[in-house]
Amino acid sequence: MQQTIPLHSAIPGVTDADIARVFDPCVVEEFAADSPTWWKALRDVDAKLERRTPTWDHWLNADGQRTSALVQRQYDGKWSRVDFEAELRGSRLGWFEWGDRRMRARTVGYKKVFQLWLARVIDWLKPSSVVEIGFGWGMHLLALAVQFPEIRFRGVELTASGVLTARALALDPATPRLLEDFVVDPLRDGGAAARLDLCQGSAEALPLPDKSVDMVMTVLALEQMEQIRDKALRELARVARRHVVMIEPFRDWNSQPRHREYIRQLDYWTAAIEELPAYGLIPVAATADVPQKLTSHAGIVVTDVERG
Ligand SMILES: C[S@@+](CC[C@H](N)C(=O)[O-])C[C@H]1O[C@@H](n2cnc3c(N)ncnc32)[C@H](O)[C@@H]1O
Repeated sequence: MQQTIPLHSAIPGVTDADIARVFDPCVVEEFAADSPTWWKALRDVDAKLERRTPTWDHWLNADGQRTSALVQRQYDGKWSRVDFEAELRGSRLGWFEWGDRRMRARTVGYKKVFQLWLARVIDWLKPSSVVEIGFGWGMHLLALAVQFPEIRFRGVELTASGVLTARALALDPATPRLLEDFVVDPLRDGGAAARLDLCQGSAEALPLPDKSVDMVMTVLALEQMEQIRDKALRELARVARRHVVMIEPFRDWNSQPRHREYIRQLDYWTAAIEELPAYGLIPVAATADVPQKLTSHAGIVVTDVERG
């Protein structure tokens, strides 16, 4: 049976003031609704979509599909040259909208808001084990491990370079100090990063037994898996004992033509929240009410795993 939930139900313990506290230090400029600079930013996105940005094609096959093989090749290159310090300092700038606020901000602010969501979801659900599927080079896992040392954290990632980079960072004594500004809660045990259990694998066939982890999470990883959507959702539901938590651009939040076109051209995730119960994943909270990029909006969906 499908369950209807309010799409703006908040995550317990996360208020707008909390989100602003995390994001606002990254804001470099705010714009009025009629600001020519802001409208130019929107026109620039539309122009990119109109001329089909050529580098986007590196991610797609001749049929315009984002295949796992191409995703793996592209991210393998990307994650072999991560500058951890620069990523966490976040010198890159992006355009963000949130309610009636329009902003230019350091993009790391967006990731800090995800950290806030994840930390409060962990406080709420109290898992004793967590696995992140598609952890990249480990940014979120490393940060969560040092804040929640009592939890067993694991990760499964498609690329060998992502696993290698994350393992090296997990063992580097300098990592906890670099994480200090990124984490939302005080660091409780810098040594906990070294205990992360990381492996290479695909969401299509997770190297984990049935119902083996309390909470399975993804952060902008399912967005890459439109071509394997059904298998990936089945696998998340199979290995999760209690919850699956996804921070992803669900269709519910991307109905604007600009968003739809961006997602279509890049063959990103188009699943809707109402499809989850068919996999035994029952949504209990969902919201995208945080600063968002202009190209597509990502939100968090917290689900209970149906007891079977
Ligand atoms: C946009 S990155 C996000 C990384 C990380 N979750 C973060 O938020 O920093 C997407 C990640 O998903 C991984 N990925 C894509 N398809 C995957 C699959 N089938 N199985 C496991 N990981 C996958 C990619 O290799 C990449 O590291």
